[in-house]
Parts: sequence; C-alpha cells; structure tokens
Amino acid sequence: MLKEKGCVFALAPMEGVTDTVFRQVLCDIGKPDLFFTEFLNVEGFCSKGRERVVHRLDFENVEKPVVVQLWGNVPEYYAQTIEYVKELNPDGIDINMGCSVRDVLSSGRGSALINDRVLAKEIIDAVRDSVGKLPVSVKTRIGFDKVDTEGWIGFLLEQKLDMITVHGRLSKEAYSSPSRWDEIARSVRLRDSISPDTLILGNGDVKDINQASEYVKKYGVDGVMIGRAILNNPWLFSGRKPEDISKEERFEVLKKHLEIFEKERGDMDIFNSQKKYIKAYISNFDTAADMRIQLMTADSTSQVMQLLASFNKMTS
Ligand SMILES: Cc1cc2nc3c(=O)[nH]c(=O)nc-3n(C[C@H](O)[C@H](O)[C@H](O)COP(=O)(O)O)c2cc1C
Repeated sequence: MLKEKGCVFALAPMEGVTDTVFRQVLCDIGKPDLFFTEFLNVEGFCSKGRERVVHRLDFENVEKPVVVQLWGNVPEYYAQTIEYVKELNPDGIDINMGCSVRDVLSSGRGSALINDRVLAKEIIDAVRDSVGKLPVSVKTRIGFDKVDTEGWIGFLLEQKLDMITVHGRLSKEAYSSPSRWDEIARSVRLRDSISPDTLILGNGDVKDINQASEYVKKYGVDGVMIGRAILNNPWLFSGRKPEDISKEERFEVLKKHLEIFEKERGDMDIFNSQKKYIKAYISNFDTAADMRIQLMTADSTSQVMQLLASFNKMTS
C-alpha cells in the first residue's frame, strides 16, 4: 500500500507525545501517510506491569495505517506480545533498534542492539515468525559510537525487512549534532544493491513538508519521518504554515484534543502531561504567550475550557 503511493511522510513515534489522543487530532488537522505508536516494551507487556503499558497500543480505525513499535531484548517476549497485538489489526510491526536513552541502553536494548547482531537477528526472526502477513520494519541509527552505515544498515538490509527508518545519528549523539543525511543517502544506495524491495525512510531534523519533499528528491529516500517539528506546528502534515492558522481554530483544536483526552484517558493524575499540547496549539499569534501563561495554571480540562471560552469572548 505504501509503495504505491510514491513517497511516504510518517509521524515519528515519540513516547509521551504521539499517543492515540494526539494522533486522532492530527487525523483532522493534518494526517501523515503513516503513524507509529509510542514504543512498547515487550518485557513490561509480558509481566505483571502490563496494565501500566497496554494503553500504548490503543488506536482508532481512523488513524490507520498505524504501525506498532516494540522494544526489548527477549525474542520470546516479542512473539508473545505480537500474538496479542495481531488481534488489534495494526498495519505493521516496527522494532526499535534506535533508542539511546540510558535505561534502555543499559539493559542491551534499543540502539545497543547495533552492537549485538546475533540477538538483533534473533529478534527480527522471532518477529517475522509471529506476525503472519504483517510487514516488519526496524527504526535505527547509523552506528553505535562510530558511523557504520555499510556494516549495520547493510546487515539489516540482508534481513530483507519491509522497511527501515534511518535516523542519521549515532547512538551516543544527542540532538546537538545534525542528522547525517549523506549517510541516509548511502543507506538508499546499499538498499538498491542488497534489498531493492525494502523501503527506506530518512529521519532527523526535518522541519516541514517542503523540506521533506526536497529531501526525498535530494537523498533518494522513499519517505521521511518527522518527529519534534510536529510540536512546533501540529498542522505540519497538511502543508499549512503556523501563521495561516487563526487563533479561533487553535482554540477549537485544543478543545477537541482535551475532549478526546477525557474520553480516552480521563485521568486527572496525568493532566499535566497535556500541557505540551497547549503550548503546541496556542502559539504563533500576538497574544499567545499571555494566554499560555494563564492556561498553564489550569489543572483540569474544565478549567482550560473555561479559559478558552473567556478568550473567545474577548476576541469576538
Ligand atoms: C520526546 C521524544 C520521544 C521519543 N520516543 C521515541 C519512541 O518511542 N520510539 C522511537 O523509535 N523513537 C523515539 N524518539 C525519537 C524520534 O522518533 C526521532 O527519531 C527523533 O526525534 C529524530 O527525529 P526529529 O529530528 O524529526 O525529531 C523520541 C524522540 C523524542 C523527542
């Protein structure tokens, strides 16, 4: 399905950001070609802690196509998790081999798998044996502590995956150094010789759809995955610019977001987690900063709704 489209613009999985609530809002204001769930730890899922993590698998039909992203280092737990996930009818399973957060790395998971190809292969094989017809993909980086595109991406290509997302950084690199798109282009050339049917998405530092289109042409990728930029402009995938969105529309979208949040989660303990979206929607107009200061003092959805009603009165 994705191959037919030409090129793919995907929203990156981002823990604590790209949950079903936000994805449902994006379906209305600018839907990417492909969503990923936040990553789900298979060991956590296969333990007594399942209740705490299972919400990461939530998605609505409207969000499709949506790929479920898993992480962990026990092939058997991947297989068990996928037995459950398959029933949800996602559009693919992605294995995280790119995360560089210390807790994930210290237990040999995420991008630590770049250093353990035997285990990486066992995981890919276990996933492939479990998924049935679902596509299998990997999201990763260009090396652990030195660039190893040929070795690592070459190895992944030999596994004949359906898709590989290449974030052009090393595991040890934070966001201060730029994503190396020349290495992403090298991955595309490797793909052409090793596994022509594998899609390559490039990832890292892309700000908007125009830049994504440019990069598809310039670096030859089949698509681009965009992460952090979505919080600067949640309308990004529609091609609309921040300055083209009225404050009234911004208020409406924030209201809708919180309505979906109440329906899906409704948990006052995590209300503060919603403030990043207040910042994302209520920005890029004259009085946005003042309004945000007031909205940030709210500690419930109903307080935000009241404030939005009073802002609307002021502006009408
Ligand atoms: C808050 C946050 C959470 C993230 N969570 C995940 C995750 O769950 N799975 C994953 O593969 N990458 C995760 N990432 C990495 C992004 O998917 C992406 O690879 C990275 O931000 C680079 O893309 P960008 O420059 O477009 O943001 C996360 C990044 C951020 C900033």
